Amino acid sequence: MSEQITKEEPVYVTDALIAEDIDAYLETHQHKTMLRFITCGSVDDGKSTLIGRLLYDSKMIFEDQLAALESDSKKVGTQGQEIDFALLVDGLAAEREQGITIDVAYRFFATEKRKFIVADTPGHEQYTRNMVTGASTADLAVILIDARKGVLTQTRRHSFLAHLIGIRHIVLAVNKMDLVGYDQATYDAIVADYAAFARSIGIESFVAMPISGFKGDNITGPSENTPWYTGPSLIQHLETVELDSTIDQAKPFRMAVQWVNRPNLDFRGFSGLIASGAVRPGDGVRVLPSGKTSTVTRVVTLDGDLDEAVAGQSITLCLADEIDCSRGDVLAAADAPPQAADQFETTLVWMADEALLPGRAYWLKLGTQTVSATVQAPKYTVNVNTMEHLACKTLDLNAIGVAEITTDRPVVFEPYADSRTLGGFILIDKITNATVAAGMLHFSLRRAQNVHWQALDVSREAHAALKNQKPAVLWFTGLSGSGKSTVANLVEKKLHALGKHTFLLDGDNVRHGLNKDLGFTETDRIENIRRVGEVARLMTDAGLIVLTAFISPFRAEREMVRELLPEGEFVEVFIDTPLDVAEARDVKGLYKKARSGQLKNFTGIDSPYEAPENPEIRVDTTKESPEDAAERIVDHLLGWAPTI
Ligand code: ADX
Repeated sequence: MSEQITKEEPVYVTDALIAEDIDAYLETHQHKTMLRFITCGSVDDGKSTLIGRLLYDSKMIFEDQLAALESDSKKVGTQGQEIDFALLVDGLAAEREQGITIDVAYRFFATEKRKFIVADTPGHEQYTRNMVTGASTADLAVILIDARKGVLTQTRRHSFLAHLIGIRHIVLAVNKMDLVGYDQATYDAIVADYAAFARSIGIESFVAMPISGFKGDNITGPSENTPWYTGPSLIQHLETVELDSTIDQAKPFRMAVQWVNRPNLDFRGFSGLIASGAVRPGDGVRVLPSGKTSTVTRVVTLDGDLDEAVAGQSITLCLADEIDCSRGDVLAAADAPPQAADQFETTLVWMADEALLPGRAYWLKLGTQTVSATVQAPKYTVNVNTMEHLACKTLDLNAIGVAEITTDRPVVFEPYADSRTLGGFILIDKITNATVAAGMLHFSLRRAQNVHWQALDVSREAHAALKNQKPAVLWFTGLSGSGKSTVANLVEKKLHALGKHTFLLDGDNVRHGLNKDLGFTETDRIENIRRVGEVARLMTDAGLIVLTAFISPFRAEREMVRELLPEGEFVEVFIDTPLDVAEARDVKGLYKKARSGQLKNFTGIDSPYEAPENPEIRVDTTKESPEDAAERIVDHLLGWAPTI
């Protein structure tokens, strides 16, 4: 998934070698591979104890943890290591609790063979988004089970999420075996129970092991207490499991271009992180989505040119031809390129307090690509405790659902199951810039592939020229009863008298026909404006001057319509009548109904109105007559007066 939603703190480790020979220490660590994993389970399952055990047994304890231990040394006295271990675990648990609502705690440790980053994610359902954040870059998940309790609801939820987020390796750590007398039958029953569940959600394999984080059984090596268990210890398994980056190296070459490196006229290179595969000078590459091809001439890094670079490396590629390629494009093996599409089926994990608004445009960020995207009403949401699919209209915080997404430009992608880099994305609120969802692309929709743009011979310019006018949309926005229809109507009359070809789309009228299926929920209002925006655009293609009179309460949708049209054709007219004035007029008697509770979701009363920040024209109806305002708007439109 995106780099935006993961955060790692740099941490420092100490061991004897640092003191003795810092160069040797750095050398041994530099060439080790790195495994990222998550631990799932609640504090009760012994998560802090297990993490403490891994840090403790690998003899790699944080400097700050060490300092804490030392300052407590009076208490520790000479009682030795066991107390140090307990203190370490207490420290971890306390830290975890303090940090629980904010983020994921990342811890670093290393063994002779490998370096590790473990993301300690909170277990409760209300922290689903934190778990997803921690899991998004993990190679492996340790699912902790208390041997006394067996498979619980939260075991199922964590396993489902780990699988959903694409974690390939699952370890079922049946913990607290010391408390069940290291009983094999208990262990076997739990593993069989879990296996049945895992199969049902599509987990193809997992590795189970009986452990005790507290006593250290099967953590670093085989335990005498479980002679019946012949598998690897937890650390042995973590040291040898195949890394995602190794698996990714075997796939075709893909690299999202982060920036174009052009320090001088003699050098032009494309920089990025290789998502999969390998690349060598002489390889044929294709730029997507344009499809142009070229040949690699150099693979440049800070340490000089390479004969080959592989997944996980950051490089700059030089190509034989001066082809168009910029940030957001993807460079791929010429003979095995990924697809590009603009409609997808996706799974979304909703991460914001405000629910998903189907139809609202969000930024979709996938690797280095950023496009505008709208989400359809979800097909279903998944109950993460029972795996049931439930019908739903939206997604709330922590909800997981399947929904179709449409983007305004083709996105180069691969199914998430094949590539987390090219299949994982985030959605960003365009106004607050907050990350609102993490998502996984599953496949592009066929209808997107089979519907092509039909080239027409009579262009929009030709339509407008025949009418001898410049098309435009005069978009009136304001509260109910503010005077939108009145002013728009006067403006249309004036334009008509001047021989202009116009059409007025009025909220109340359109809601009797095209939009009679829509009500006044946020979702319905968004759809109302989307349709009206599309109709207005078609009418400008036909060469008309379109006037629209809709409350259009949301900034995001008004901006969406603005973006639909060529620069300068969208003229936002804010009919700025204060609520108390509109309410006092109450032309249709609706404010009275709304105040008495007979009418729900009424704009200005119990449904929001987001006033325009920079409208092209603002009309204060308490100071200006409709006639004068209409005059001013016509002057503005026809360029007879400077911008107001
Ligand atoms: S919009 O919010 O989706 O843009 P639109 O302009 O189409 O609204 O329709 C607003 C008109 O519908 C109002 O002028 C009013 O006559 C009527 N109406 C009925 N119920 C409501 C409501 N709950 N909120 C606002 N307007 C309502």
